[in-house]
Amino acid sequence: MSNSNKLNWKISATFHLVMVVLGVVYVLVSAYTYRNYTLETSQKLHAHLADHLVEETKPLVNGKPDTAATHDIMHSMMVINPSVEVYLLDTTGRIIDYVVPFSTVKREQVSLDPVRKFIEAQGELFILGDCPKAPGAQNIFSASPIFEGEKLTGYAYIILAGMAQQEVGSTLLSSYFLKTGSFIFLATLIASLLVGLFAIWLITRNLQDIIEVVRRFKEGDSKARVPNAKGSDLALLSTTFNDMADTIGANIEELKSVENLRRELIANVSHDLRTPLAIMQGYVETMLIKNDTLTPGERRQYLETTLGSSEKLAKLISQLFEYSKLEAKQIQPRKEPFFIAELAQDVHQKYQIIAKQKGITLQLDQPKDLPMVFADLGLVERVIQNLMDNALKFTPQGGKVSIALRAMDSSVEVRIADTGPGIPESEQSAIFERYRKAASGHVQQSAGAGLGLAIAKKILVLHDATIRVQSKLNEGTAFMFQLPVAA
Ligand SMILES: Nc1ncnc2c1ncn2[C@@H]1O[C@H](COP(=O)(O)OP(=O)(O)OP(=O)(O)O)[C@@H](O)[C@H]1O
Ligand SMILES: [Mg+2]
Repeated sequence: MSNSNKLNWKISATFHLVMVVLGVVYVLVSAYTYRNYTLETSQKLHAHLADHLVEETKPLVNGKPDTAATHDIMHSMMVINPSVEVYLLDTTGRIIDYVVPFSTVKREQVSLDPVRKFIEAQGELFILGDCPKAPGAQNIFSASPIFEGEKLTGYAYIILAGMAQQEVGSTLLSSYFLKTGSFIFLATLIASLLVGLFAIWLITRNLQDIIEVVRRFKEGDSKARVPNAKGSDLALLSTTFNDMADTIGANIEELKSVENLRRELIANVSHDLRTPLAIMQGYVETMLIKNDTLTPGERRQYLETTLGSSEKLAKLISQLFEYSKLEAKQIQPRKEPFFIAELAQDVHQKYQIIAKQKGITLQLDQPKDLPMVFADLGLVERVIQNLMDNALKFTPQGGKVSIALRAMDSSVEVRIADTGPGIPESEQSAIFERYRKAASGHVQQSAGAGLGLAIAKKILVLHDATIRVQSKLNEGTAFMFQLPVAA
C-alpha cells in the first residue's frame, strides 16, 4: 500500500471511529434522557394520587390498616391504572399493608427519606424511592402522610411506574432504539463513509498530484513541476516545490557550466603553457649542448628568446589567474568617483613609447570639463589597457590608434579605435569569449592567449556596462563602453 493510501485509510479510520463513538454516546444520552423524561412526567402527573387515597378513605385506624375500607379503592385504582402499586407504611417506613398484582413483595421496609422530601416539596420534586418488589431498585412514587386527629400514624406510598409498565416501557424503548436507532445509525454511518471518502479524496487529490510530480523529479525528470501551482488547493506547497525545483535546476546548470569551464581551462592552460615552456626548454638545452661553439651574438639571441617566452608565460599565468578570479566572482569592484580624463591621459602617456617604436600615431580626443565617473579605477584601467594592447598589437606600421572620450546623458563613453586589419563580422561576437581569437588570416596569428577581451567584458559586467565593437575589414576596429557619471 502506498504511503498516500495509508494516509487516506488512517484519516478515514479516525473519522469513522469518531462517528461510531459519537453515535454510541448519542444513543446512550438520549436513552437516559428519554427514560428520565418519562419518569419525571409520570411522577408529576400522578403526584397527588396518594393524597386522593388518603382524602377518600381513612386507611389507618389506630395505626392499623383498615383493610375493609381501603382494599376496594386500592383495587379500583389499580384497575384504572395497572402500573400502580399501593402500599401503607407505618411511621418507621415498615410496610404494613399492600394491594399488589402478580408478584410478591420482597421488602419489609422502605426508606422514609425520599418520602419526606416528596411530601415537603408537595409533589413538585422528581425523586426516586425504594421499590418494595425489587430490593436495590428505585422508582417514582407518590406519597401522602396519614393523620389520625393530630397524630401522624403512617404514610400512603404508591409506586407509579410499576414493574409491569417498566417492562413494557423498556421493551418498547429497546425495540425502538434497536430498530430505528440502529437503522438511522447505520444509514448515517454509510452516508458519512461515502461523504468522508469523497472529502478525503478532495483533500488528497492535490496532494497526489504533488507526490506524483515529486516522484518524477526524484527519478531524474528535472523539468517536473506542479502544474497550475498558484491555483491549486495546496498553492503554498506547490509553489514552494516548484521554486525549490527551479533553484536546484539552476544550481545544477551552473555546476555543469562551471565543470565544463574547468575542463576547458585545464585543456587550454596546459596547451598554452606548454608552448612557451617548450621553447624555453629547447633554447636552454641548445645553449648547454653548444656551450663551447656559440658566438656571443647567438648566445644573446637565445637568451632573449628564452626571456621573451618566460615573460609570455608570466603574463599568461597572471591573466589566467585574473580571469579565474573574475569568473569565480572573487573580484568585487571597489567603486569610487574619479576623473576618467586623467586616466586616459595616463594611458596615452604610457603607450606613447610602444607606439613610437611601432611607427603608429597615438591620438587622444577628449572635451574639457568631463565629469567624474563612478567605477573601480584599477579595473577600468585594466579594460583600457587590454583594448590598447590589442589596438597596438594588430595595427600595422604607419597606422593610427586613438582614445576618445565623450560625455553622454548620464555617462561617459570611452572609445578606442585603430586603423588595423579589422575583424570579420562573423567573428565579432566570439572574440569576447575566453581563448577566442579571430580566425587566422585577417591578422598574423597573434601571440596572445585570447583572454584580454574576455577579461575586459567580465570587468564591465561588474559595472553593469557592456562592451561593443565596430569593425570593418581592412579599415579598422573600434571598441567602446560607457561608465556612469558620479552623482
Ligand atoms: N583591435 C583589433 N583589431 C583586430 N582584431 C582584434 C582587435 N582586438 C581583438 N582582435 C581579435 O580578437 C581576438 C581576441 O582578443 P583578445 O584581446 O581577447 O585576445 P588576444 O589579444 O589574442 O590575447 P591576449 O589579449 O590574451 O594577449 C584577437 O585574437 C584578435 O583576433
Ligand atoms: Mg588582447
